[in-house]
This record gives sequence, C-alpha cells and structure tokens, in this order.
Amino acid sequence: METGIACCARGALLPNVSSQHSTGLVSPRSVSPSFSSRSLKSSSLFGESLRIMPPRSSLKASKSKNSSLVTKCEIGDSLEEFLTKATPDKGLIRLMMCMGEALRTISFKVRTASCGGTACVNSFGDEQLAVDLLANNVLFEALKYSHIVKYGCSEEVPELQDMEGPAEGGFSVAFDPLDGSSIVDTNFTVGTIFGVWPGDKLTGVTGRDQVAAAMGIFGPRTTYVLALKDLPGTHEFLLLDEGKWQHVKDTTEIGEGKMFSPGNLRATSDNPDYAKLIDYYVREKYTLRYTGGMVPDVNQIIVKEKGIFTNVASPSAKAKLRLLFEVAPLGFLIEKAGGYSSDGNKSVLDKVINSLDDRTQVAYGSKNEIIRFEETLYGSSRLKAPEPVGAAA
Ligand code: F6P
Ligand code: MG
Repeated sequence: METGIACCARGALLPNVSSQHSTGLVSPRSVSPSFSSRSLKSSSLFGESLRIMPPRSSLKASKSKNSSLVTKCEIGDSLEEFLTKATPDKGLIRLMMCMGEALRTISFKVRTASCGGTACVNSFGDEQLAVDLLANNVLFEALKYSHIVKYGCSEEVPELQDMEGPAEGGFSVAFDPLDGSSIVDTNFTVGTIFGVWPGDKLTGVTGRDQVAAAMGIFGPRTTYVLALKDLPGTHEFLLLDEGKWQHVKDTTEIGEGKMFSPGNLRATSDNPDYAKLIDYYVREKYTLRYTGGMVPDVNQIIVKEKGIFTNVASPSAKAKLRLLFEVAPLGFLIEKAGGYSSDGNKSVLDKVINSLDDRTQVAYGSKNEIIRFEETLYGSSRLKAPEPVGAAA
C-alpha cells in the first residue's frame, strides 16, 4: 500500500503555548514528553509525529481538458487533506505542513510579544528575542526538519544556508521571516512570505520556476495563503483555536474594482509618471487601502478579488523590495489567483534572479490595472485591453 507522510509535532514548536494552541493534526500524546525549552534541537521540534496518511489511490484528482490538474480540494478541508488531494509530491506536502507549523508558532509569538522602545520581543526557550529574529529561527528549524530542503535563505541574512536535504528531488526556500516588522509595535497586520524552488538554485532562476509560494498573515485572524504550481488558484487556510488550519477560500479570478495601495509614495516627488498614476486613482475616486505591510496590502487583492498594489522607484527613492524574498513569491500568489504582476515592462515572474539581494519596483493587481500601470509608467503595455484604460494619456 502506498502511504504518505505528514509532519509535524503539533505543539512541539510551542513550549510556552497553552494546550489550546498546541494540539491539532496529532494528539498531544505524539509530542515528546522529553521536550523542554532547553532541548530545541531540530530532532525534537518535528520528530515523533510522522504518521500514515490515506493511500494515494483515494485522491480525487482528475485531468481537465487542458490537462491541468483539477483537484477536488474542498472548503472545510484541513491543510493535510487539502495538500494530499492537491499534489502527489510527498516532499512538498511535508514541507508545506512544516511551514504551517512554523507559521503557527510565529503567530503566537507575534500575538504575545511585548513591544517598547525599539523592538518587540518574546521568549523562545530561555532567550528573549525580537520577534523577527525569532521568526527567522523558527523557519530555519522548520526547513531543516522537513528533511527535503537543500538550501534555505532568509531576507535577514541573504546567504544560502545548507539545510542538509537532497538537491535532487528536494527544494530550496527563500523567505522574508516577518515582513513589516517595523509595524509590529503598532499592532498592524504583519506576515511571513516564502517561495519554494525545485533543487538547489535560488539564483539564475525566475519566479515562474517556483513550485509553491505562500504567506502567513498575522492579523486579527491568522491565515496561511498558498499556491502550488500544478494546482489552479490561491488558497486560504484559517488557523482555528484548536490549532488546525482549515481551508476557507479559493481565489481564481481578480476582477476590476477601484481600490489602491500606493507604496513608496515619496517617489511621486521625482517620478512624474508615478504622480500621474496616483492622481488618476484620486480623480477616479478609488478607495485607499494601504497599511505599509506588503503582506496585508497584497493579500487584500486576493481576498477582495480586485485592486492594485504599487511600489514604484524614482531617482531619489530607489526600489527596496526584494525580488527573491518578497516580490517573486507574492507574484506567484497573485498570478495563481488570476491576477497580474509587473515591474513596469513584464511579469515579475519572468525576471531572472541574478543575485540573492536583487531589488525591483512592482505592481500587482487586476489585468486593466496592470495595463494602466505599464502604460502610465512606460507608454505601452504588453497586455492588450479591449478598450483604453486611461491615465497614460
Ligand atoms: O518589506 C518592506 C516593506 O515594509 C513592505 O512590507 C511594504 O510594502 C513597504 O516596505 C512599505 O514601504 P513604504 O513605507 O515606502 O511605502
Ligand atoms: Mg520585507
């Protein structure tokens, strides 16, 4: 009988968390009784809970006319059920489950952080750590424990870290551990972003090469929004009180609607085309929805299925968003959701990642919004609109 493997030890990452937050996929019995905050070895974080999943023959997957994999992933499914139906790749399932565990831990640590002065800190083991550094450590632990990741790379220190998994048949993962860490103290929504590439390369590849991307969103609710290469749509999971991730939404289309998120707005002072675009939104009475956290600002396009996010550069306000850690994974989520992305000329998924620290300007949104963005900034768009979209003239 063919079997699958799911990780991880629910609760094992959360030594200080109440039982309400420490149970889920597996019963508390599966958490090592020997676990203590002093024994944070990777073997103790995710071990002991590997368990048998249903045989793959029970998957309800079929091929559609265009040969894309259409699954019967249903609203209400657990993350594990969803992934098992969504992909036959057990390594990828394991990785996405492990990252789900990490996100759950980060969510708790963000929620219970003490903020003051210059940082928000929380305890992890015996240490007091700033939450972004804590998130960073938790994610590396998760990657290592998945046993399927060759390289991990964090925006905090953009260097490849060997996670000791296989290069062949394995993955490399780039992540921004806590995007918006400067707005944690104000209690705005913050998030984790990650992209998954096959094998051992994170440079010389493009965003389109990703096999999966996701974000963890730590707001009034915690959600895990993910997309897989061979599965249509972008899918939202809600963290329930009992610790499980439950599938709550699919997004497959981004329509037109007047909502804008203008990042790096200071660039309008010496980029007249960006200023013209912003004037258009104001003149046309778009609704402004901008928090300054890229994760919630981009997530709202997926949830509301409309809108535009821009972060445009100028001579005095250079592009600061990182292609590998932020722009490409979010581009993957937006495009899988039926939206479009652009650096001004092309999809951000078609940009070759030359160095781990590459930066770019970016827009995400509906088709007409991306046409308007490209036409206004560069005079023409590679995308065709049925009728003129305005602002450029
Ligand atoms: O990662 C950088 C970041 O914090 C993003 O989350 C956000 O979109 C951007 O900076 C905000 O930049 P600005 O304040 O210049 O609009
Ligand atoms: Mg960031």
